[in-house]
Amino acid sequence: MSNPSLLILPGDGIGPEVMAEVRKIIDWFGAKRGLAFDVEEDLVGGAAYDRHGTPLADETMARAQEVDAVLLGAVGGPKYDDLDFSVKPERGLLRLRKEMDLFANLRPAVCFDALADFSSLKREVVAGLDIIIVRELTSGIYFGEPRGIFEEGNERVGINTQRYTESEIDRVARAAFELARKRGNKVCSMEKANVMESGILWREVVQKVHDEDYPDVELSHMYADNGAMQLVRNPKQFDVIVTDNLFGDILSDAAAMLTGSLGMLPSASLGAPMENGRPKALYEPVHGSAPDIAGQGKANPIACILSFAMALRYSFDQGGEADRLEAAVNKVLADGVRTADLLAQEGVEPVSTAQMGDAILAALD
Ligand code: NAI
Ligand code: MG
Repeated sequence: MSNPSLLILPGDGIGPEVMAEVRKIIDWFGAKRGLAFDVEEDLVGGAAYDRHGTPLADETMARAQEVDAVLLGAVGGPKYDDLDFSVKPERGLLRLRKEMDLFANLRPAVCFDALADFSSLKREVVAGLDIIIVRELTSGIYFGEPRGIFEEGNERVGINTQRYTESEIDRVARAAFELARKRGNKVCSMEKANVMESGILWREVVQKVHDEDYPDVELSHMYADNGAMQLVRNPKQFDVIVTDNLFGDILSDAAAMLTGSLGMLPSASLGAPMENGRPKALYEPVHGSAPDIAGQGKANPIACILSFAMALRYSFDQGGEADRLEAAVNKVLADGVRTADLLAQEGVEPVSTAQMGDAILAALD
């Protein structure tokens, strides 16, 4: 059997800096855990534009379709702000998401104990939190027709349409149930079936997928507005939350901030299963290229490292190894190692990007 394949796209700004630390971690798993990957690296975003005049070369796009998982750093930066819209760095990322048809966006909210005081909520509400929001990403009100601003009588009307087909709901529900089986085996589906027909269909289809193929997973339904309240009242009641594009956009941002710094937040976007059974997958930190700190060795590499942990768990069925990596991050934080973005009080010396990576490697050992 050949090794699983990984395409690494560091991108721009702090992207290459945080990715260099992930490369060390990947090498560690190869050397110490017998978990070798065939790693290739290529350009995306401004870096690709500088070389090829396009933010994502066709050959890179083709490789992204073939590999077992793509790991991306970040794209963009002031150098590219005046480029034509069609070649902006972000277009590279959008092209990946669109052509790989990544319909399920996974946003975990995990509270590392040492950072519980970073949260705007009370320590006991967030300590030990480990939930994940699955947001439908390619349909719903951001895409539905009709849309536009129209004349109606003597005034204008702005229209967007929430539209979901059964198959679109079916596939994101499956993604959520598959995830749940690798975690706490619990899914809460959120919509507004009380006031929206698309919500009624959503609830029906999620229930049907559950009853037919995932009866072992605990399923509940919640109206999304109540879901928002429950997320800040008692977030630990959840394991996997599955919801549509609009509610997911809002709920995942809210959930992310339960746990603090942008430098800590990983994400994944999954598509349909490939022939080998693995889903098409793109893993990336939530943060951008952070031009204000790029090139200074200040960036926190943990968001990107935790994105690789998600790849271990959700693309490579290595949940145990993902746990190992997350435990190493937890230990380093508990030991008080902090990049500048994690400093709550003055007088503590921050570590560099590379020092944080090395501390995590040492904790793995
Ligand atoms: P940003 O996420 O790059 O930065 C926001 C703030 O958080 C900055 O102060 C930055 O220094 C800090 N920060 C972000 N990641 C950090 C890390 N790992 N460690 C320490 N501090 C960190 O968002 P911003 O400033 O709005 O955008 C900057 C550029 O990134 C723009 O060109 C934007 O288009 C692009 N961008 C790219 C994204 C992507 O590649 N997925 C997502 C968001 C923005
Ligand atoms: Mg948003």
